[in-house]
Amino acid sequence: MAAQHPQIAMFIRQLQALAASNDDLDQLLPEVAKIAQPLAADRSWIEADFYEANEDQGFAISVLHEEPDHRLLVETIAWLPGRGVSPHDHQTWGVVVGLDGTETNTNWRRLDDGSVAGYAEVEVAGEVIAGAGDCILLRPDDIHSVRNDGDETALSLHIYGRSLRHVDRSEFNPLAKTRQPCPIRTRR
Ligand SMILES: [Fe+2]
Repeated sequence: MAAQHPQIAMFIRQLQALAASNDDLDQLLPEVAKIAQPLAADRSWIEADFYEANEDQGFAISVLHEEPDHRLLVETIAWLPGRGVSPHDHQTWGVVVGLDGTETNTNWRRLDDGSVAGYAEVEVAGEVIAGAGDCILLRPDDIHSVRNDGDETALSLHIYGRSLRHVDRSEFNPLAKTRQPCPIRTRR
């Protein structure tokens, strides 16, 4: 885990207080976005190695904070040009804030009722191109995919209600109409 910059330490304290006092996602998610947005304006906390992404995975995750009981995960993700991830859910809430470059977030709508194991039908519900300071709010069952359509590495800040290593979440293949356990991403 990267050493904690004072700006991040202050953000974590604010985040812990918010998450402890509010479990209504309609209120919590905009509040988290509000305290996270200044981190896109004053970016002195961002380290050069946050951008160093591995070609195999196509992106790099740098963990800034995780609670000992695995609630609250804060990390940056650097997306290499042309790379991204397949549609997936998180099974916890999430807030993404653009820091550098742009990332294309595609939202997917699930069409089947989930009654057949391993089967899922999803269709595109919308697309948001997030640049620096733009926030994306994610509820536990929301399905999205991400790709960097730009020419430079894109960087974003991700905040989750629970460590993604400790949730049972899914990845979707829209063409094969399958749902399978989401791959465990490499984090540092
Ligand atoms: Fe995601």
